[in-house]
Amino acid sequence: MPHPLSDRINSLPISQTLAMAAKARELKAAGKDIISLSLGEPDFNTPDFIKDAAIEAINQDYNSYTPVDGYPALKEAICTKFKRDNGLEYQPNQIVVSTGAKQSIANIAQVLLNPGDEVLLPAPYWVSYSAIAILCEATFVEIPSSIDTDFKITPAQLEAAITPKTKMIFFNSPNNPSGTIYSEEEYRALAKVLGKHPQIYVLSDEIYEHINYGAKAFSFAAIENMYDRTITVNGLAKAFAMTGWRIGYIGAPQWIAKACTKMQGQITSGANCIAQRAAITAVLAPVSNIKYMVDEFQNRRDMVLNLLGKIDGFKLNIPEGAFYVFPDVSNFFGKTFKGKTINNASDFSMLLLEEANVATVTGDAFGAPNCIRMSYAASESQLREAIKRIEKVLS
Ligand SMILES: Cc1ncc(COP(=O)(O)O)c(C=O)c1O
Repeated sequence: MPHPLSDRINSLPISQTLAMAAKARELKAAGKDIISLSLGEPDFNTPDFIKDAAIEAINQDYNSYTPVDGYPALKEAICTKFKRDNGLEYQPNQIVVSTGAKQSIANIAQVLLNPGDEVLLPAPYWVSYSAIAILCEATFVEIPSSIDTDFKITPAQLEAAITPKTKMIFFNSPNNPSGTIYSEEEYRALAKVLGKHPQIYVLSDEIYEHINYGAKAFSFAAIENMYDRTITVNGLAKAFAMTGWRIGYIGAPQWIAKACTKMQGQITSGANCIAQRAAITAVLAPVSNIKYMVDEFQNRRDMVLNLLGKIDGFKLNIPEGAFYVFPDVSNFFGKTFKGKTINNASDFSMLLLEEANVATVTGDAFGAPNCIRMSYAASESQLREAIKRIEKVLS
């Protein structure tokens, strides 16, 4: 008899990223030398100046429950950061600190979405967006893009996807998995469409804003008519190599911030005290303090693009941010290796794992079934070795 689990959890699809990670672990346990390019986290340590702030917080006995929406000093620091980096004027009562950007996104979805509401997801999109929408019994509507448009959607596509049921769009630039960054003009063109549909709220996930190699990342809320219906999501995980510290935050209209605080107050309470104290130091630090990591990511991106570009069949673009390449591998579909036909990106990704011992993530997981995601948050030698193995299998 099946276990009596709720319809809610049964309705959640199994994460393909986790399935791939499980398979990689299985092969590793069997003694295979697996190189993992499937991870979504920096391979750097948290910078010392942030660690020092955390140690100081421990020694100063920061150990009690924290305010549900975050320490006032951290909310002030986040307002300063929003003004400095994004030109956004938020007051502390518009900020909610959470246990990671993922919780911020879940809070927003829970407080704004009703069953049957539609959420627009420009594809490719981060895997958790669709799962979070499903948990709210909302319907997610993918807006496809491809490598030929640099994985960007057009205003016409946005217009065509909107229905009277559309309540939100989840927007992410720089993007995971494609690394795409929308320009200010492109934001404004999309905002023009949204301007005609005042019932739509924008969740603007800007967690990769500092990991960009070209144009400065822009913010949806910086557009005049969008501020009152945009929730700006950010966090410390990516730019500060703090994935395990679990600090995210939003800047939002006050009524939304208040609702998120109410939601969070019944689920997790305030975020970790030590991590919040360290976060004050991190968000106030000049961006130049973390440039060494961004420079290193850029060097690796260039190297990976150069090496993959020499392999026949990979279709590449130049991702301007984040730490992923997202090649289109559809040229390999229909080919056979050791009796197995590669029908799709999942088969291709599995082939790389089993035959080249390199773990990647299938684009299916991100709503882009022709692509695979390869993270270059790995050492240069690992990246070189991984691509050498891939080339050998594909040749
Ligand atoms: C686009 C995007 N948003 C949010 C998150 C979650 O961030 P956090 O670790 O702060 O919960 C991730 C993590 O992979 C991400 O890629």
